[in-house]
This record gives sequence, C-alpha cells and structure tokens, in this order.
Amino acid sequence: MPGTVIVGTQWGDEGKGRFVDYLAEQSSLVVRYQGGHNAGHTIVVDGEVFALQLVPSGVLYRHVTPVIGNGVVVDPAVLIAELDMLEAKGVDTSRLRLSGNAHLIMPYHTELDRVTERYLGQNKLGTTKRGIGPTYADKALRVGLRVQDLLDAKIFRQKLDLVLREKNGVLAKVYNRLPLDADEICATYLAMLPRLEPLIDDTVHLVHEALDAGQEVLFEGAQATYLDLDHGTYPFVTSSNPIAGGVCTGAGVGPRAIERVIGVVKAYTTRVGSGPFPTELADGDATGEALVERGHEFGTNTGRRRRPGWLDAVMLRHAVRLNSCSEIAVTKLDVLSTLPELKVCVAYEGDDGKRYEHVPYHQSVLHKVRPVYETLPGWGGEIDGATRVEDLPPEARDYLRFVEELAGVPMTFVSVGPSRDQTVVMPRAA
Ligand code: IMP
Repeated sequence: MPGTVIVGTQWGDEGKGRFVDYLAEQSSLVVRYQGGHNAGHTIVVDGEVFALQLVPSGVLYRHVTPVIGNGVVVDPAVLIAELDMLEAKGVDTSRLRLSGNAHLIMPYHTELDRVTERYLGQNKLGTTKRGIGPTYADKALRVGLRVQDLLDAKIFRQKLDLVLREKNGVLAKVYNRLPLDADEICATYLAMLPRLEPLIDDTVHLVHEALDAGQEVLFEGAQATYLDLDHGTYPFVTSSNPIAGGVCTGAGVGPRAIERVIGVVKAYTTRVGSGPFPTELADGDATGEALVERGHEFGTNTGRRRRPGWLDAVMLRHAVRLNSCSEIAVTKLDVLSTLPELKVCVAYEGDDGKRYEHVPYHQSVLHKVRPVYETLPGWGGEIDGATRVEDLPPEARDYLRFVEELAGVPMTFVSVGPSRDQTVVMPRAA
C-alpha cells in the first residue's frame, strides 16, 4: 500500500508544492486531506506560474487524479474560479474528484472570521480571513453543510435555515452586522451545482481502490506542523490537522497505508500571522530583510509579508517525531547564497536559564525562550544551476549535512530554485 505524505515541518510556506509536483509524476492520485483556500502553492512549469489554493498540485499531470478529500473545507466559488483559471491555461480539470463529505465554507463563516479577528484586536490570530476556523468549528458542532448537501436543494435549505438563525443572531447581536439572506445564499450555492456535480465522488473508496491496486497515492499537506490545531503553537494555529496523522481522518485511510512521510524544511524559517517564533529576525534586521527579499516571502494569496528567521532544528526534530518523517526535503537553499554566515538554532535557553533540546509544551515558556545557535560559513555564490549534490559548494554541502544530522533522518531532495528542474536529488534517493 504505497502511500506517501508530504508535510511541512515549520509554519507553512516551505515550498511543499514543488515536491508534490515532483512526486506527482510517479503517482496516480494526489490527495488534499485538510485545510482550504488558506493554502497557496506556487508551481512553475516552463516559466509559467500556477498559483493553486484548493486543487491538488497533481492536476498539472494528465495521468494524475487530483482529489479533494473529506477533511478539506471548500469554498465552492473559489474552487470554480480556480478551475476556470486552470482551464484558461489549457489544463484539463475534469479528472478532479471532490469528496461529498467535505464541508462547505459558507458566507457567514467568512464574515465571522473577519469580525472575530477584528473583535480580538491586538490578540488577533492573523488568520487568512477565509472562513477556515468557523467552518471547522461548525463541523465539530455538527451544524456544518457538506458538499453532498448541494445535491438535494430541499435538504440544503433545511440545514441552512437551521444554522443561519443562530449565525444571524450572532452577527447582528454580537457584532452589529447585517443578517445574511437564506434565499440569496441558496440561490448562489445551488447555482454552482451543475459545475460541481460531475466532480463529486466517494473519495475514500477511490483512494482505497488505488492503494489496493498498488498505485502510488500522494497525500498533499497544506499549512504545516506548527499550524496544527493539536500540535502547533496554539492558539496561533489553523483549525485542521496538517500533520501526517491528519491523513487518516482527512482522507479516510489507516496509518498502515502510509509508507513514506517527507518532511519539507525551508532552509530558513518564516511564519505569517501572530504567534511565537524563537528564531525570528525581527523587523529591521538586515538578514531578515534579505531573506524576505531574496525568498519573495509574501503570501501567495494574501500578499502578506512573512516574518523571517533562522532555521530552527529544535522544531525540526520535533516535527520529524510528530509526523514520523521517513526523510526530509530542503527548499530554497539558494536564498541563503548571499549570506556570509548562517545560523542554525540547536537548542533553546529558557528564562530560568534551563536548556531545552525539545520544544517546551508550555506556551509561557516557549514565548520566552532564546535560541542557542551554531554558526556555519556561507558559500558566497549562486547555486541555482546545481543539478547534482557535487555541483554545490562544500560549505553548502556542510550546511545540508548539519541539518540532516540534526533532523536524524535522511535528506532526499534539495531545491535550489523555483523551477521543476531546480531540484537536487540526493544520492540515497536517486
Ligand atoms: P487560518 O488558517 O486562516 O484560520 O489562519 C490561522 C493561522 O494559520 C494564521 O496565522 C495564518 O497566517 C496561518 N496560515 C493559514 N494558512 C497558511 C498557509 O498556507 N501558509 C502559512 N500560514 C498559514
């Protein structure tokens, strides 16, 4: 049962999409298992940029069936816009399969995401305001509407009426907003059915059929380990489980269906939104600015500037554990090329002088830790033309070896630029 998971080991934006794209070539199915259009994957094929939010990256290969699993939350208008964009670029999207059990992002979810963030003021989470949290909250409350509800207008209306009464009460009485109109929502959502209906499927069955037939199934994580609802830097997290374990619930497979887990590590760290970040190079730091500029560290969808920092091996080691990573893949190594020296955080020092080799569970401790760095020399030259590990300068190889040692699992891929062909396959993975 050859299932492979690709998961981010940091706070997202590690560049997972390029490895999904790379491995999709050998896969039959590429499955999204959580998140929604808060994610953004950028893939560059022959100089053409594809910015994907909901549709799995595998869509760009004709032989791949892209699957949106039950654990994903779907804004149907966004999905249709993305399909239109892909079709306009000549990509056939008819193979996409959409789980009937996936939950729908409704207009009140987006509205509530916006107003609650405003209400939280300085304590805001810095969400993407796409309605992700409120949709997962309704799923847990058992008042969510699912993709399959679109197939029966009467049921859709009944469920909507039930939930909208409460939502409108909250919107009007707590947040002083205008109530939303059920007729309008019904008309908008049901009008999208003809476009979506051919895509709706029993995706759990589909995934198992592929696994049983010995086909490669690639599970594509969105966001990342430290945005995980249970294991991330709560409350500054997303509302789903991006960790590899999330595949089991979000795609409907057991743990034994997963053979390989690739933890994607950016050669430095970034995070968007609020929350602790021990290795952050705070505003105005010249190295931080260089990372943002060279790494184009602005959100694919939201355009927000990402907070930059050094690589944090304490977090990486913990991510390897949480995800059972069988290997790691490093991205954006080329971004470090102009830096004279590189720092890697190998431990934390707490406020009490205590040394932490692991991520402390207590929020108050984590918020105050100071990183303990090891400094390595930079390589002072561009590496974006490297195709084999031997093409990399010795300092770059040393940096990679150091990271691999700290992670405790083999490093199988390294990316040195945004294009498909700027991937160095490490000798063991070849
Ligand atoms: P939400 O997922 O929109 O609820 O946002 C919760 C937190 O997750 C915020 O800090 C967001 O910036 C962050 N987040 C959500 N999606 C992504 C992503 O794809 N990359 C990086 N950060 C993300």
